[in-house]
Amino acid sequence: MLPELRYPSTAQDWRRLAERRLPRFLFDYVDGGAGDERTLAANVEDFAAVRLRQRVLVDVDRVDTSAPLAGQRCSLPLALAPIGLAGMVARRGEAQAARAAHAAGVPFTLSTVGICPLAEVRAAAPAPFWFQLYMLRDRGAVRALLDRAWDAGCRTLVFTVDLPLTGMRHRDIRHGMAAQGARPALIKALQVLARPGWLADVAVQGKPLLFGNLAEQVPGARDLNAFKAWVDAQFDPSVTWKDIEWLRGHWKGRLLLKGILDVEDARSAVAVGADGIVVSNHGGRQLDAVASSVSKLPAIARAVGGQTEVLVDGGVRSGVDLFKALALGARGVLIGRPWVWALAGGGEAGVRSLLATLQRELLLAMTLAGVTRIADIGPGHLDAD
Ligand code: FNR
Repeated sequence: MLPELRYPSTAQDWRRLAERRLPRFLFDYVDGGAGDERTLAANVEDFAAVRLRQRVLVDVDRVDTSAPLAGQRCSLPLALAPIGLAGMVARRGEAQAARAAHAAGVPFTLSTVGICPLAEVRAAAPAPFWFQLYMLRDRGAVRALLDRAWDAGCRTLVFTVDLPLTGMRHRDIRHGMAAQGARPALIKALQVLARPGWLADVAVQGKPLLFGNLAEQVPGARDLNAFKAWVDAQFDPSVTWKDIEWLRGHWKGRLLLKGILDVEDARSAVAVGADGIVVSNHGGRQLDAVASSVSKLPAIARAVGGQTEVLVDGGVRSGVDLFKALALGARGVLIGRPWVWALAGGGEAGVRSLLATLQRELLLAMTLAGVTRIADIGPGHLDAD
């Protein structure tokens, strides 16, 4: 039985609510991208431009949206993407989102730079969740993180490879998350005062607002700025394909490489033995000149789809977009901003409602395209005319 749908339900509904609930700098942190945000826009627009075939008089009495992702049976082939600082948009946000994902039967991914530590997410939701890793210079710290992730029940590691340095995000620099100094601090304080609900719920009752997974590595750090300074110095831009071997030696579970946008890199990912890749440009937050991830998907899926599990993220806003991604060769998708907007707008219930909408939209798309199983969705469902 599919849950009932009511407003707010779509990603755009939740975005509007998030804008009303969050201090401006936080909304911009989530919403924004790099440079002029052209890649960010292309991610969404290129999904919108894909056309599907409408098919009729096919027996669609039993449509099944379930499918495996990284060896895990899911109610739909979708996972919640890793989002740094998601716990800033709602009280103990990652724990709430993990509970919602568990209830909906899809994986949640905890970011290295999440607010809630691994153990808290584990306690919130019994289902195995995924852990996302940024490579740090301190390999001892990385090993400790991987051990803790394993102990928390994570069996899929999402290793993000498209962030040797953080992209140029002007909204964050203006007077947002990354802005330093007295004036931006004052502007941010005023933005917080304009959102008393958020102030009470998150800033006061949601503490500690620290990078929960790195607390042991940065002893004595009392605020996010201290953590940010440590993390910025720790991101390791010297990482190459050779380091995947090192990672393989320390991680017994599945390994997904996230941030592949090039066929040659996809082939290298297969060569180093990745169990899967996520075709991604980090939601348009890194190089604002690269193509949308959906436009890169077909060629990458053709090149390596037979040898590794190809997922995609960036711009997925509906169950119809999910259907399009599958038709273009993906085995599943990750969603980023949509779940964070829903979390900001409605907490755990908001994320559950969003996931219910996505599942309903996927089921309808399958029904109207005349296909009953996820595995049968393919290029034949695209309108090539
Ligand atoms: C991200 N993303 C991200 N990726 C990652 O591997 N680790 C992280 O900590 C973060 N943090 C993060 C914060 C915010 C606010 C956003 C919007 C994105 C990228 C994310 O996992 C995913 O690739 C994109 O969000 C997908 O694009 P959409 O769904 O947001 O369009």
